[in-house]
Amino acid sequence: MAASYDVHTFPVMGRALEVPTAAPLIPPHPTLPLLREAAASCRACDLYKCGTQTVFGEGGKSAHAMMVGEQPGDYEDRVGRPFVGPAGKMLDRALAEAGIDRDLVYVTNVVKHFKWKPRGKRRIHEKPNAREIAACRPWLDAELAVVKPRVLVCLGATAAQALLGKTFKVTEHRGELLRSELAPYVMATVHPSSLLRAPDDETRRRETHRFVQDLSRIAPLL
Ligand code: URA
Repeated sequence: MAASYDVHTFPVMGRALEVPTAAPLIPPHPTLPLLREAAASCRACDLYKCGTQTVFGEGGKSAHAMMVGEQPGDYEDRVGRPFVGPAGKMLDRALAEAGIDRDLVYVTNVVKHFKWKPRGKRRIHEKPNAREIAACRPWLDAELAVVKPRVLVCLGATAAQALLGKTFKVTEHRGELLRSELAPYVMATVHPSSLLRAPDDETRRRETHRFVQDLSRIAPLL
């Protein structure tokens, strides 16, 4: 039988738009394994047709920090695990430099399927839209409710705006410890993939240093 999906209403150009969400798929007594299993068959938005598989969050239930990115990348989509490609390796290096034990970190994404368009033989990342983000949101809320991280880190603008509001600017507030009901400590910083796209080595070195500095601020909180 086809699953039915709750709707989420949000304003688009002055109109209340209703979109289906994953809410009805959340198990009544969620645990991370139950959530992962349920998310595997999510069809709340059309991205399941695009990605190879659902890429659910990963890390221990007793992780103290949750890092939220935008969506799985090409590599993550194939492997089925978040932050295991080039951006994930960059994140791992920065966490180590910031003195953060990777075992204390849960990594996930705002959207659990890879959205892409073909360019030649390559699959080029496409930003998820507001409908897709709204459809997927119940998974992230459930992960937050189960993991209950002490520190929540939004990696990049998509995660920051999804969690902290549409007008939030990472450029203005990166590295700040923010007040939010989502977790005792909340921070937004750049996405590690932006470091990989730096135009030259000097910029990459400088920006990586700033990223490590941002992460260093949460190390004593874990
Ligand atoms: N970028 C993300 O935002 N998430 C991943 O899992 C990988 C790359």
